[in-house]
Order: sequence, then C-alpha cells, then structure tokens
Amino acid sequence: MKIEAFELERWQSVWENHVELNIAESGVEPLSVRELVENSGDLARVLDVRLGYPQTNGSEELRSRIAALYPDAKTENVLLTCGGAEANYVVTWGLVERGDEVIFMQPNYMQVAGLARSFGAEVKPWWLREELNWAPDANELARLVTPKTKIIAICNPSNPTGAVLSDSAMDAICAAAEKAGAWILADEVYRGAEFSGRTTASFYGRYKRTLCTAGLSKAYGLPGLRTGWVVGPAEMIEKLWGYHDYTSIGPTMLTDRIASLALAPERRAWLLERTRRILRENYPLVGDWLAGHADLFTHVKPSAGAIAWIGPRKNWNSASVAEALRARKGVLLVPGEQFAMPGYLRIGFGEGADKLRQALGRFDEWIAESADIAMARSR
Ligand SMILES: Cc1ncc(COP(=O)(O)O)c(C=O)c1O
Repeated sequence: MKIEAFELERWQSVWENHVELNIAESGVEPLSVRELVENSGDLARVLDVRLGYPQTNGSEELRSRIAALYPDAKTENVLLTCGGAEANYVVTWGLVERGDEVIFMQPNYMQVAGLARSFGAEVKPWWLREELNWAPDANELARLVTPKTKIIAICNPSNPTGAVLSDSAMDAICAAAEKAGAWILADEVYRGAEFSGRTTASFYGRYKRTLCTAGLSKAYGLPGLRTGWVVGPAEMIEKLWGYHDYTSIGPTMLTDRIASLALAPERRAWLLERTRRILRENYPLVGDWLAGHADLFTHVKPSAGAIAWIGPRKNWNSASVAEALRARKGVLLVPGEQFAMPGYLRIGFGEGADKLRQALGRFDEWIAESADIAMARSR
C-alpha cells in the first residue's frame, strides 16, 4: 500500500535531534521518572514491575483510571494504545472502507487524513475560520455530510490553533454525525492543557457513535511514555482491540504501571496544574514577541495547548522560512505547509523559557537579515 508522507512527523523525526533550539514540539517540558514517582512506595511499584507481556488492552487499574476521566465510562469502554497516534490509527483502520468519506476538521494534525486516504476514503476538509477566532462554521459541515460520511474527525482542543469548540459547535457536530449515521473521532489529546484551568468537555457521552482518543503526551508532559487510549462503546472497543493485536499488541509493562501512577487522582491534578503553569508563564514570551511583529503576523491567542499558530500578513513561503531558520539559525519550528496551510507557522512554547527566548531572538536576527521581510515591511 502506498502512503503519503506524514510531513510534520518526518520533519520532526529528521531534525529534532540535530537542531540547537527545537520549538517545533506541541507539548510541555517532559518530566523525568524521578519527578513523577513521588515516594518510595511508588518507586518500589515501578522497580518491581515484571517485564512480561502486559495485559494487551491495558491493566484493570489503568483502564479504570482512564475511564474515570469520562462520564459513565467503565473499563470495557477503554482500549490502551501506544500513544494517541496508535489510538487514531486503530480507529481509522477499524472504520474506514474504500469509497467512504471522512470529514476532517482543518487545520489539524494530519495523521487521520493521511491514513484515511491510504485506506481508500475521500477526505473532505472542514475548515476552522481565522475570522471566527478559529471556530468552525456549522453550516459548512451540514453541507459536507452525505450518506457516505463514515467519520467526522475533529481535534479538540485544536492542534495547531489552540481553539476550543463551543457547546453549540459540539452539538452541531453530533447532529451532523447522527444525520449521516457517522462516527465522531474526537482527538482530545490536548484536553487538560487549558489556560483557564477549565477542562474542555469531552465528546464522550454526547453521541452514541463517538470514539475519543487521547493520551499522556501533551496535557500531562509524558510523551516518552507512549501512552494513549481510545474510549468508546464497549462493542467497538472490543473490535478495535482485535485491530490492535496486529499493530503493537500493547504498550509495555513499565508504561502501564507508570501511566497508572500518573493518573492517580492527586498526581494527575498536580501534572495538569504543572502544565497550565508552564503555559501561563511561557505564553507571554511569544505573545509579546508577536505583538512586536504585528505588521508581519496575525495571531489568535490559544485557549489550550503549548502552541501558537501564526499567520502571514505578507505573502511568504513559510516552508522556506522554516528551512532557513533551521539551516541558518538552528531553530526548528513547524511550517504551515505541514498543516496544509502554507504561509502559517507553528511555534511551540511549552519547553524552557530560555530556549524560547533564544529561538525568538534568532528569528529576529533572521528577520533583520532577510531581504524579503525588509521589502514586505517597507511596502
Ligand atoms: C492532535 C494530535 N493527536 C495525536 C498526536 C500523537 O500523540 P502521541 O504522542 O500521544 O502519539 C499528536 C502529536 O503531536 C497530536 O498533535
């Protein structure tokens, strides 16, 4: 089977370990195991893990902690996966048949769109609108839905805009899915990383054919654990478990145990508070920098996530900008082309403030040196 390149992941995989200042990440500074394992009792539970095969759909303890994050969910509603990425993979693989249509909220993390096309679906973009502060227009969704719609795939809170859907937008999505008999695939991996501290409502429990994917990579600062999950109707979770037998079989024993410690209620609250503190402390560095460049960039402050999505006031090629910053200044950020929105850039602000300051300083150097920008400014 031919696949299209997953450009964002390729760009990061190839360069993230070779640049000095990586501001392409969308999460917060990851924790060490030492920071996470609070006391000697927990440490013993980690060190005593026997490295056999894990329960492949996730241990009872971990699935019950995940289920507790969703209204009325039980362990049979949860499938543990290797990251949110595997969760999205098994859902898309499990649902899409050749000839189906998938409505895909955009801009978005392009995994589901790329996969759905390779499984033979037609992917129809449903665009978030900058003029609506990156909210979608529900009337457009109603026009996109047909009897062939198999999935409406959304990302809430959104990567890359950081916008959170309103209740009425969520209702409109459920109504559109109901009309077509479609599934909602709600990627909620940024849920919990809200500036306001108010956790975004889940799609779970709003509509019967909903599959929510999430994990510990973004809001919890634990991407290296590779812990994700799907939450949905028990029969569909059982079916997807069978698909998962063909992918990774399951995450590791250590992953399961450490993830379970991370989701113990107090630890979880502490992790989310840590993430929100990092967002609140670091965002002003980007926000102030952007305010100083209002002649070059458009920007709507994110409601969640450690990502600033910035648009061009001038007609420039953001892939070339990103490549020049990488090659000449050692700064890695994400060009909008990788979100099918040329001209835009995504800056991650969830890691060290010093790194962020330095990276923005180098961006300034590049702006000062760049003939294109000087011309754009003088126009
Ligand atoms: C919206 C979205 N979903 C899923 C993923 C993959 O997450 P994970 O690292 O948990 O596999 C990402 C990673 O950037 C993402 O942005």
